[in-house]
Amino acid sequence: MKKRCMALFLVIAMVLTGIPQLGTSVSLAAQVDYEKLTLQEAKAIYMDANQSMDTRIAALLPQMTLEEKAAQMVQPEQNGDATPEVVKTKGIGSILSGGGSAPKSGNTTKDWEDRVNAFKQAAKESRLGIPLIYGVDAVHGNNNVDNTVIFPHNIGLGASNDAALVEQVGAAAAEEIRATGIQWTFAPTLGVVYSERWGRFYESFGENPDLVANMGAAYVKGFQGTGDSLFASNKVAATAKHYIGEGQTANGVNQGNVELSKEAFDQLLVTDGLLKPYEEAIKAGARTVMVSYNSVDGLKCHGNEHLIMDVLKGKKTTQNPLGLGFTGFVVSDYNGIDQLNGTYKEKVAASVNAGVDMFMEPYDWQNFIDALVDNVSDGSVSIERVNDAVTRILRVKMEMGLFEEVVGSQAEQALVAKVGSSEHRQVAKEAVEKSLVLLKNNTVGTTGKTALELLADAKNILVGGYKANDIGAQCGGWTISWQGGLDADKGSGGVKVTAGTTIYEGIKEKAGNGVSVSYNARGMIGTGYDVAVIVAGETPYAESNGDKTEEALVLPIEDQNVIKTAIASAKQTNTPVILVLTTGRPLAIADYVDGVDAIVEAWLPGTQGDGVSEVLLGTTEFSGTLPVTWPWSPKYITSKRSDSSKVLFPYGTGLKKDGTSILEGGQTQIPTNRPDTGGDDPSTSLVTRKGGVDIDHYNGILEAEYANPTSGTFSSYHVATGKETVDGQEIGYLEWSAQSWGNGKWLAYFRQAGTYDVTLRMKVSSVATNEFKFGVSTDVTGDGATTEFIATQVTGDKYEDVVISGIDIPKSGLYGVKIMDGAESPSGRIKLDSMKFTCTNPVGEKDTSVDTSIEDPKNETPKESEGAVIATDAVSVYMTSTENAGNMSWYKYPTEMANQMTQKDSLDVTAVDNQALTTININPNKTYQELLGMGTSLEESTVNNLSQLKDSIQQQFIEDLVNPQKGGMTLFRVTIKIIKIRNTWQIDPNKL
Ligand code: BGC
Repeated sequence: MKKRCMALFLVIAMVLTGIPQLGTSVSLAAQVDYEKLTLQEAKAIYMDANQSMDTRIAALLPQMTLEEKAAQMVQPEQNGDATPEVVKTKGIGSILSGGGSAPKSGNTTKDWEDRVNAFKQAAKESRLGIPLIYGVDAVHGNNNVDNTVIFPHNIGLGASNDAALVEQVGAAAAEEIRATGIQWTFAPTLGVVYSERWGRFYESFGENPDLVANMGAAYVKGFQGTGDSLFASNKVAATAKHYIGEGQTANGVNQGNVELSKEAFDQLLVTDGLLKPYEEAIKAGARTVMVSYNSVDGLKCHGNEHLIMDVLKGKKTTQNPLGLGFTGFVVSDYNGIDQLNGTYKEKVAASVNAGVDMFMEPYDWQNFIDALVDNVSDGSVSIERVNDAVTRILRVKMEMGLFEEVVGSQAEQALVAKVGSSEHRQVAKEAVEKSLVLLKNNTVGTTGKTALELLADAKNILVGGYKANDIGAQCGGWTISWQGGLDADKGSGGVKVTAGTTIYEGIKEKAGNGVSVSYNARGMIGTGYDVAVIVAGETPYAESNGDKTEEALVLPIEDQNVIKTAIASAKQTNTPVILVLTTGRPLAIADYVDGVDAIVEAWLPGTQGDGVSEVLLGTTEFSGTLPVTWPWSPKYITSKRSDSSKVLFPYGTGLKKDGTSILEGGQTQIPTNRPDTGGDDPSTSLVTRKGGVDIDHYNGILEAEYANPTSGTFSSYHVATGKETVDGQEIGYLEWSAQSWGNGKWLAYFRQAGTYDVTLRMKVSSVATNEFKFGVSTDVTGDGATTEFIATQVTGDKYEDVVISGIDIPKSGLYGVKIMDGAESPSGRIKLDSMKFTCTNPVGEKDTSVDTSIEDPKNETPKESEGAVIATDAVSVYMTSTENAGNMSWYKYPTEMANQMTQKDSLDVTAVDNQALTTININPNKTYQELLGMGTSLEESTVNNLSQLKDSIQQQFIEDLVNPQKGGMTLFRVTIKIIKIRNTWQIDPNKL
């Protein structure tokens, strides 16, 4: 008791005399026995912002139980069982929202703020009151939350090469993040890209480490602030991620292995500059680093003590020349430690000992706490290492002022108005403008003008392509949901993934009066257009789902068809074509580069499509340059690095509207020495429907992107959604139980007789049994009995290649291909990405006499006026009476039928053109009779009510309704009481 009083006295003396610095006053520090303080006494110190951080931590650490220390080191998911109540009782130090993890209540900024603040408040009320740090993947704006501003993905920012602008982007994003109460973003990515096959290519700023370092450091400064603004109430902590080598894995496999020895990798860190971005980010103030999933020489970074302890955290010395001396904290990636060897307890020990300080264990957080406690108890992890980790976390929280943060402060409230604001949209728009890279811009015919110059003068513009009018497409992955998604997938009716301006809308806006802009989703160009702007791009994906084989690095088939349609119809109509690409990486475009007059790489621009139109149509000049080298074909991904003959667009390519290069000496024309690009890209070739897929066109590959199964009785077959893919869309999965072949099959047309191997790229998501059967029908009709091949190689939930040999194709023709799951109740276990047939023993000549293409609807030569070529404003819309179903004024006729024809926005029929919907064919160049009230109808219940009225009133009502001056109704949906009404209603045309 006495000692305790003494300690208290010393503490008070310290405060009063203002000598707080533990360590600066050795004698005083030695006198204070922090171990002996009561919680109250300690709190008076560690909650006091006037104390030095060392003192505060020295007072706090001894108060923490081992469980509380472990709780500071773990980071559960908000949507799991670590509720605010749990945070309070356990003293959990951090919570995250993984990609798309929105609060249950909804996805507005307010929903997030309420949820986040509930956690923050709970932490404050915990025994020790250590504040919570909440982390989120805000990788291009606060991208999970509805109606925020989505900025270009990093690859586009890299193309801008504008550090000041990237800093502004970071600052604007920080405000939108902090408006939700969140104080930490898992961004920026500092990986340097080597391979387009990597699914996270677009998260990188590019292939040049200096560029990555500059952009990354600028982003950090923008997020966090600098000088006086550092960690101000409108700033967030940044994360330098993913440490390290993620872009260098063999074949660009996400989370894969860098096949280099420890020594060789150390060397690469310097020679290829991989460390530079981290060095610069740390200099710029980054206080957290996220470890990468990848391994180096087989050792996962999460357990790599050398890379974390020596290189990242170690001081630079002659023995440790790479040391970056990082003093912040290191966070693991989502379930990252799961990929280490051993039991869970061993994984925890290995990773803590390797130097990871905070553990993103979304749902295993309690196991983590228990495992860490066990590891310390049995000496597998030292308490010193735990104290170091906790100290680092506490220090960052203190540096950020989180101990003093007021939950739901006024400053935070003030930021809410900035979410999705025009101020922030302006920053994003500028970022889009600067990210655009003009790759090709030829002089068109004899005009003496480039395609872009012609666009500037155009009076009639055709915008084409599904991706031209889809916010989801232009935002890419990490948008509202983890994987992102198309507007088109949100259902019909043009519902946007989030608020923003599509490229088409931007062009309409910018074109203004006197310029007509039409839209055709399929890329069909009718006559009378001065220029066509055709947009094609990737369909959103994130992380491993974006990993692709070389062959799969092509545009989605529907976008390829858009380009092909555009090129073919442009030829007929003599229209210059500007191709705008919305892709996260260079894809195979060799087949199109000659057919279009200009190519703009717009990357994944985000919500501000008006940034694209600003440069296309406005006076703003292109300024972006390629942050990566674009090969002639994906098969040159590796050789492009050393062999310039394999390069289509060199690093730094970027043209201006007059066709000259932005950088001195830059490429202005596509090289004439074209290397072999594999001929027509297989997936741009023909698709046959009734005749099955002509596998010859696809290098033997049957792939979901272009192979539809014949459904028939194939009832349990699931067509690919594209949602759970690795290498592209899956062909689908199979559900019928073992021991019987389903009737459904894929039809494949073989031109070459002989013996084949088939390589099935597949995975089995649960391992009830790893057996499945593969069969090819024994006759050429595709229907005959099936030869069975049993394969058992597939073992887990990762795509693998399974090879089955000895498949007999006796003569050329159509065969049925089937797969049967070996499990009793498979329910979608087997997921199949592709099947590749290789003829190992050809018999006779290849049969080329059959034209399998004739059944391909997508291969028709486009004809003018076919398809939804509709001039903007071609279909006017008028609404009679009320649009609000709750307003009953119709029923009170005649006294309240004052609300007659009001003109609405013109019907954008073109926007919903897809195969599932009716296509309306209107030639914009012909004069049509005006249609009044097209498509209006009376709801059945209204008709029913109507039928209850007196006949004379009904008659009057109907006459007024049809009268163009009064009602203008032309269509009645009369499914109820139809007879009675038909008998009653007599409309005298003379009265109208
Ligand atoms: C990604 C990280 C991300 C984390 C949290 C992981 O799958 O690799 O970049 O920060 O999830 O959502």
